[in-house]
Amino acid sequence: MQLQPIEYATLYDRIGAVRLRRLLEDFYARVALNPDIAPLFPEDLSETIDRQEAFMTGFFGGPPLYFERYGHPRLRMRHMRFPIGQTQARAWLACMHAALEASDLEPDLQREVYAALARTAVHMINQPGA
Ligand code: HEM
Repeated sequence: MQLQPIEYATLYDRIGAVRLRRLLEDFYARVALNPDIAPLFPEDLSETIDRQEAFMTGFFGGPPLYFERYGHPRLRMRHMRFPIGQTQARAWLACMHAALEASDLEPDLQREVYAALARTAVHMINQPGA
């Protein structure tokens, strides 16, 4: 029996650069309106969106743009200056959930993206019990 290589598309291939950008613009518009996390973010979110776009491009299997532009992400460490408890993690994920639902990503893809981000968000909690 001859085994064929498995061909698969990364999440990044399936989302595409245009839809990722649109998703993040909608996500941060929701973040800016969320009282639990808005105060943590700068008023002008354009730089935040650019950094997140670069990060998620690599995170979902595309080119490592964040690494090339800003160095090693060390995400947990970069979040240490912000108090992140259950409340903030839930709020971040609620904004992402709403942005995914409002997007034109296929439902399976929405679920996979959300699951990957939910695992990472839990890792960002640095105020256990809060
Ligand atoms: C758990 C809830 C989270 C909260 C409350 C939170 C909050 C923040 C805040 C306040 C910033 C700084 C924004 C700025 O000054 O421009 C930031 C940056 C960032 N966050 Fe989060 N974040 C969360 C989860 C995540 C997750 C799950 C990811 C990745 C999947 C992520 C990726 C990033 C990246 C890449 C940056 C830019 C880091 C930098 O270059 O300095 N965050 N986050």
